[in-house]
Amino acid sequence: MKYQAPRGTQDILPEEQPWWDCVYRTVARLAREYRYALIETPIFEDAGLFTRLGEATDVVSKEMYIFKDRGDQELALRPEGTAPVCRAYLEHGMQNHPQPVRLWYTAPNFRYDRPQAGRYREHHQFGVEAIGDEDPAIDAEVIEMLWRLYEELGLTGLTLHLNSIGDQNCRPRYLAKLREYYSDKLDQICEDCRGRYEKNPLRLLDCKNERCQPIIAGAPAFSDYLCDACRDHFARLRGHLDDVGIAYTLNPRLVRGLDYYTRTVFEIEPMEAGGQSSLGGGGRYDGLIEQLGGKPTPGIGFGTGIERIIINLKRQEVPLPEQPALEVYVAYQTPAARSVAFKLASDLRRAGVSSVVASGERSLKAQMRHADHLKANRVAIIGDRELADGTVTLKDLREGGKQTTIPLIDVVRQLDDQG
Ligand code: HAM
Repeated sequence: MKYQAPRGTQDILPEEQPWWDCVYRTVARLAREYRYALIETPIFEDAGLFTRLGEATDVVSKEMYIFKDRGDQELALRPEGTAPVCRAYLEHGMQNHPQPVRLWYTAPNFRYDRPQAGRYREHHQFGVEAIGDEDPAIDAEVIEMLWRLYEELGLTGLTLHLNSIGDQNCRPRYLAKLREYYSDKLDQICEDCRGRYEKNPLRLLDCKNERCQPIIAGAPAFSDYLCDACRDHFARLRGHLDDVGIAYTLNPRLVRGLDYYTRTVFEIEPMEAGGQSSLGGGGRYDGLIEQLGGKPTPGIGFGTGIERIIINLKRQEVPLPEQPALEVYVAYQTPAARSVAFKLASDLRRAGVSSVVASGERSLKAQMRHADHLKANRVAIIGDRELADGTVTLKDLREGGKQTTIPLIDVVRQLDDQG
């Protein structure tokens, strides 16, 4: 075979679509309930939108798909959804709308990562962003929405990890403590961590390398260094989660993989944890809009990978909602009935009754097999006798092939009534 889907990408075949459909329907319904409005942004953006966000993170420094277009402009395939939505918020003057502006999206993202189970170079995310309000009630709302998504889909055994990583007031003090703690352990940590120590010490806590684990375990916790405002914000958020009965695990090592986060960060993990097991996560980014050239504006959101949701739905053997069946397969005995059959299928569809008409030179028997294969509820047969009488024989495949013959002009009404 000459071509295959690029490494780390996948075709979403028709047999997989019911899973996607089930997730998309649930996210759209939740977004409606919570009054989030749909936004779509381009698949590529000015590369600078992302590079200025965190050159010390893998997503930006190692995994972006960057290219120059024919006009020599440097563009990047979207690696994540938050920065584009914030760009759109500013570009379209949404700071003048009532705040917070609540937005949601589903979109493909591109990261040049090492492909493995649950980790792809193209993945799809459902995400929300609530921009313009720093009230911890919004943090709790966003977390509740993500939790409810998994709950409504039927996933169980999930853990919500929660942490606060402070703001520009308390972070420098914490980072100084963290650096001090690591300063005499640099020969015990991995090479990547030695780079992190210089460039982005918070990410030291996120290292997956075995040899760094005992050192991470002894590191100071941010919660001991939060300023009063951040401590109060975090306590109120936890209070709201308690109000709605959402259990969380405080995880002082949780820092997330992108650099724009402030205060609240969270991740939801399935029971069978692993290196890249996070089902979804997010947090506050109170400095991001300002970094993109706007006035200081708080924001919070999450992203959840749809592929990972589906992997977990299958792993937990969550049953899919029943798919609507093909209602009528229209078959004909001889070519003379083709035209009547074709028109009948068309009339049925116009009445909202799904139907497929036989095609080609197949025998009636082969057409019946085809109807079976398509799992049709009924077959409408136009044989020579029916053609002469102006009737149709309906064979109900769900009821052992029970047959009735009715006038052609009554078929659409009768099937429409029966639903
Ligand atoms: P993220 O943690 O990088 O956050 O991605 C969110 C989710 O996308 C992950 O939890 C995971 O389910 C899925 N995901 C990420 N990378 C891959 C991959 N290579 N293959 C498959 N699934 C993947 C963000 O992107 C932030 N924009 C989330 C956010 C929104 N924070 C605030 N607002």
